[in-house]
Amino acid sequence: MTRQHDMRSRKSALARFIIVVTLAFGTASSCAQDADTIRQYQFEPASGGYQLVMKEVPRPVAGDNEVLVRVRATSLNRRDLNMLKNDYGDDFSYAGSIPLSDGAGEVIAVGKDVTRFKAGDRVAGIFFEKWIDGAPSEEALQSDRGGNAGGMLSEVIVTHEDGLVEIPEHLSYEEAATLPCAGVTAWVGLFKRGRIEPDHYVLLEGTGGVSVFGLIFSSALGAKPIITSSRDHKLARAMDMGAIGTANYRSNPDWHLEAKDLSGGHGVDQVLDVGGRDTLAKALEILAYGGHIALIGGLSGYGSEIPTDALMWINATTSGVYVGSREDFEAMNAFISEHAIRPLIDRVFEFEEAPAAYELMESGDFMGKIVIRH
Ligand SMILES: NC(=O)c1ccc[n+]([C@@H]2O[C@H](COP(=O)([O-])OP(=O)(O)OC[C@H]3O[C@@H](n4cnc5c(N)ncnc54)[C@H](OP(=O)(O)O)[C@@H]3O)[C@@H](O)[C@H]2O)c1
Repeated sequence: MTRQHDMRSRKSALARFIIVVTLAFGTASSCAQDADTIRQYQFEPASGGYQLVMKEVPRPVAGDNEVLVRVRATSLNRRDLNMLKNDYGDDFSYAGSIPLSDGAGEVIAVGKDVTRFKAGDRVAGIFFEKWIDGAPSEEALQSDRGGNAGGMLSEVIVTHEDGLVEIPEHLSYEEAATLPCAGVTAWVGLFKRGRIEPDHYVLLEGTGGVSVFGLIFSSALGAKPIITSSRDHKLARAMDMGAIGTANYRSNPDWHLEAKDLSGGHGVDQVLDVGGRDTLAKALEILAYGGHIALIGGLSGYGSEIPTDALMWINATTSGVYVGSREDFEAMNAFISEHAIRPLIDRVFEFEEAPAAYELMESGDFMGKIVIRH
């Protein structure tokens, strides 16, 4: 997936698509260490988009610098649903590719020149297999897992040793599988680009993957998260998780003014803008002096009138954030370990139920992350 693909997101109902699981063999295998074949899902073209088809494929082999990972869990991001529905357009075909960028598992074999890992290590794939540190290159941005590079919805994957990080000790594989996209994006937006401080008010839009990580991280820092949702029961849950206030963006079109009130009129110092067209201008309207907005998503579509004079007046900063590098992932993991942070998982599906995980995301009836156990 390229940035252009992401910008071209358009809405369509999952009902238009049929998701079929084809078991290409009789019974479910348990992926024995020495089996010649493994199971994995692949995208197959279907009417108006793709369907997930389970295949039995030859077991991959690790090259000299490569690592074989027994994937134990994966998680979904909005991008994965967009890809299934072909929302990024026909310029790029996902046919035959393995879905899902995010996964964690156990190293089961390493190539002869591998130095970073050994069998038994607990690892997660980084979102861009080739973005190690610093600013991204075009090549790095073309190495997104589950898009241009192979995805994680497979019993076993093979990857270059540079494309993995160790996962925090206190996390399960299911928890660690939520980190590579949503976790790193929220962390980069708040800490690296936003330079969040404990006295900051933080605006989080909706209760999906990125925003809930924003809530968890800012709360762990002692900052003051304010979160929105279309559903009151999710707002109640967010209060239990450390939000200092909430607003329902569906029942109150002026949710941003409610958020400003919650900050005592100060405004918000940090914004993770995942809403895009319908949220960016409102977030800007309540940005505190010297505030920062991370431009992350387009849940309501992309494109917005940017009041440059207002940005200048309040000395605001905006950053485009596209996940992050391995270095960012490792910095986030250090913070997660230091604060014993646990991601919020809404529901865990079994490997054979992967299509149902996509359906739950489409329904919107979830909070935080949706996970698949392999
Ligand atoms: N730039 C990057 O690196 C990056 C990384 C990750 C994601 N993204 C983008 O960021 C966005 C969020 O991704 P995600 O994976 O966190 O999504 P997600 O987990 O699917 O979250 C969806 C939730 O967002 C809320 N929402 C939907 N429409 C909204 C709107 N118009 N205004 C405010 N909230 C809205 C809803 O929460 P409630 O049910 O609480 O209302 C919905 O359940 C997507 O556009 C995605 O493509 C970008």
